[in-house]
Amino acid sequence: EKGGYDHFMLKEIFEQPDTIYDSMRGRLDLQAKQIILSGIEKYAHEISNTNRIVIVACGTSWHAGLIAEYIIEELCRINVEVEYASEFRYRNPVIQPGDVILAISQSGETADTLVALENAKKQGAIILGVVNVVGSSIARLSDAGAYTHAGPEIGVASTKAFTAQLTVLNLIALKIAALKGTISGERFLQLSEELHKVPEKVQWILDTQIEKIQQIAKKYKDARDFLFLGRGYNFPVALEGALKLKEISYIHAEGYPAAEMKHGPIALVDENLPVVFVATKDAYHEKIVSNIQEIKARKGKIISVVTRGDAVSESLSDDYMEIPEADEIIAPLISVVPLQLLSYYIGVELGLDVDKPRNLAKSVTVE
Ligand code: M6R
Repeated sequence: EKGGYDHFMLKEIFEQPDTIYDSMRGRLDLQAKQIILSGIEKYAHEISNTNRIVIVACGTSWHAGLIAEYIIEELCRINVEVEYASEFRYRNPVIQPGDVILAISQSGETADTLVALENAKKQGAIILGVVNVVGSSIARLSDAGAYTHAGPEIGVASTKAFTAQLTVLNLIALKIAALKGTISGERFLQLSEELHKVPEKVQWILDTQIEKIQQIAKKYKDARDFLFLGRGYNFPVALEGALKLKEISYIHAEGYPAAEMKHGPIALVDENLPVVFVATKDAYHEKIVSNIQEIKARKGKIISVVTRGDAVSESLSDDYMEIPEADEIIAPLISVVPLQLLSYYIGVELGLDVDKPRNLAKSVTVE
């Protein structure tokens, strides 16, 4: 059942070229320059005319939501907020008829997310679901939605569900942007083609980086704390890298926007602290390179995720993992993969139960 892999988590990481492809198959039509999402057609007009989208989710799905916020604001020019379902549910949020609540959930059964949606629905919001489990409670409650096609995810740590969520969220953003006219035909085509190339880029990482990541895992497995830093679209990837490491290895890890470092966390840096930078080539690259230099000056150990052939970031790093070049909007789908693998191999090195970490449940159906 693990298909020859030692753990479900590894199998699911390796399935990503297929699950990302499955999540866009039949939906992204490059010839017709069109995105077909049958589950949202009925509400497409309302969604593209809304003044506000509130994304509600927990955990890894919440991280996908943070990335979607940046993408939707950039491409669709709609105001987006991202909320932890548990907070949104218990306070008295302002919801107006016509607001779109975008729920992201692998299981479709997370109690806090479900109740947050029930409350919003009563107040006239349109519920748009991005869910993996067909027929789940959140899927049934949604007015409109697009399933992720990740297949069953058994590992408690979410991996392939996250990249499937990002795939579908990109499709939704592109579709709304095209309807609203906030994206040029050329940019639409460029991003569609970039999305289409993601499976082969993820495959490249799986084919070429494993040995290197295993060595990095061996070298840093005894660290007590880790810091993960990123900027822009890669900031939530840093948060996700930290969450994965905590879940799988029980090593304390924190994710931050790289520029926030100076406002506190930099006090932690010494020669014992590994700092993981998601430093791919994008509009923020120069800025993140100076953040790397700041950590280096304080003797922190630099591990980075870099774009292939980026000699600058490589030379500044103690260790690095490479990914193929990608548009910055699409990059998180690719840059998260080395971080999933890093936490997996650290967990394995430490002899831990990576598929079922202590204290965690696959779906959190209690509040
Ligand atoms: O099923 P959901 O996507 O609603 O679950 C949300 C979180 O419980 C989930 O992502 C959790 O954080 C994972 N253990 C992360 O790996």
